[in-house]
Amino acid sequence: MAQQDDVFKKIVSHAKEYGFVFPSSDIYDGLSAVYDYGQNGVELKNNIKRYWWDAMTLLHENIVGIDSAIFMHPTIWKASGHVDAFNDPLIDNRDSKKRYRADVLIEDHLAKIDDKINKEIAKAAKRFGDAFDEAQFRATNARVLEYQAHRDELHNRFATAMNANDLEALRQIIIDEEIVCPISGTKNWTEVRQFNLMFKTEMGSTADGAMSVYLRPETAQGIFVNYLNVQKTGRMRIPFGIAQIGKAFRNEIVARQFIFRMREFEQMEMQFFVRPGEELKWFAQWKEWRLKWHKALGMGDEKYRYHDHDKLAHYANAATDIEFLMPFGFKEVEGIHSRTNFDLSQHEKFSGKKIQYFDPELNENYTPYVIETSIGVDRMFLSVLCSSYEEETLPGGDTRVVLHLPAPLAPVKCAVLPLVRKDGLPEKAREIVDDLKFDFATHYEEKDAIGKRYRRQDAIGTPFCITVDHQTLEDNTVTLRERDSMEQTRVNIADLHRLIHDRVSLASLLRKLK
Ligand code: GAP
Repeated sequence: MAQQDDVFKKIVSHAKEYGFVFPSSDIYDGLSAVYDYGQNGVELKNNIKRYWWDAMTLLHENIVGIDSAIFMHPTIWKASGHVDAFNDPLIDNRDSKKRYRADVLIEDHLAKIDDKINKEIAKAAKRFGDAFDEAQFRATNARVLEYQAHRDELHNRFATAMNANDLEALRQIIIDEEIVCPISGTKNWTEVRQFNLMFKTEMGSTADGAMSVYLRPETAQGIFVNYLNVQKTGRMRIPFGIAQIGKAFRNEIVARQFIFRMREFEQMEMQFFVRPGEELKWFAQWKEWRLKWHKALGMGDEKYRYHDHDKLAHYANAATDIEFLMPFGFKEVEGIHSRTNFDLSQHEKFSGKKIQYFDPELNENYTPYVIETSIGVDRMFLSVLCSSYEEETLPGGDTRVVLHLPAPLAPVKCAVLPLVRKDGLPEKAREIVDDLKFDFATHYEEKDAIGKRYRRQDAIGTPFCITVDHQTLEDNTVTLRERDSMEQTRVNIADLHRLIHDRVSLASLLRKLK
């Protein structure tokens, strides 16, 4: 675990050092849980968004996109349930005056019990060497059994309290388990209270008062309130989908793990409108399609798993997460929800407008049911970064840090490097850049020794380096170096476009989804 923590710290500092992610307001010492994307980060992020957008809108004739405003009528959030039910349970320590999420305090406590179990196992593994049988040890060691029984009992209590929204029961767990404040070290806790996660601000400044509005906590509601507009103007027939990419804001209390949980983040959401009664069929279909989209990136099938929800949100009749193996464990990257007709019905009720679909095949009106796919751009970014990062020891004992980014997502697709800064090589290299730059993000670099330049490109995940040397001037060939294998092949300049395109085009990735 400690080793994984170290790797994660290295990834975070690599992201800053190479222009992927900076803390927001860095020169003012940052702003908690808010981040900026740098020159390479924004390209990687845009490529992720393009991959999602094209997979939705190009590959599905019945999915169109929109871009709705962040500010929306405040009644929308009443209708959606966010004003009344978008809460976290909070508890304060009276001595340190620090505020915590009660559920996170308990989860951290559970993780400490897990650590104790893992330590016992690691100690025994060291003692018994190759003969160690972990399953048998877990089943028979008295101390491990005691920890495990305690953990299971606590976990059940916790799940029951969370499912019932029982704030007193959550507090009682904290008291019974003698959980202390990490700052003051005391158990002097307040009651647990609900805290709404939406950011509120004022719109307008008229004498008779400004209107309170919220920064949207999800992009989905912008789709629901445009359902009629899109269905009518696009003459859409059910089943059809509306996709949107945009910022969302949540006043997360416990914001941690870098860009995993932020206060300002980006979502890629698609609402798929279907006939009532057909929603679970479409839910299963979208589960399959979305996992395929992730796996096509080639980051390792074993790094994904579904997590089906036992506890469903008030609007859902089925829900699952696609989880990805981050350095800190399997974590949710995407949610797929069968949201019934809850949202459209609520907006019908609160707006007073009829939101129905006339189904010509059934010859009847109904409120469509909805399957939602909702993925966080930043979490997707983090999963790509974490799974790409490698500190590699090379055959001669040398080391390099390389990002094995899926080539179509890489911020820079190829770097053109004149071997020396004279003899007409820079001019020849510039000619190649001027040809390739219309189709690929191309870098030109002439400073430092060639090995150092290769390392810099490896560190930002550039799939190809093209080296221009004296032979190039004679026969129009260059060396094409591939990032992962580091293999160098002599190729004709005329073939560069095709060779690069085959590896880096988004179309090649999209074709895998057929
Ligand atoms: N419209 C449904 C919805 O918003 P959600 O599970 O709350 O569902 C969907 O969020 C996705 O948005 C998550 O799977 C995650 O990738 C991303 N997400 C949610 N909160 C986030 C946060 N604070 N920081 C970064 N990403 C977040």
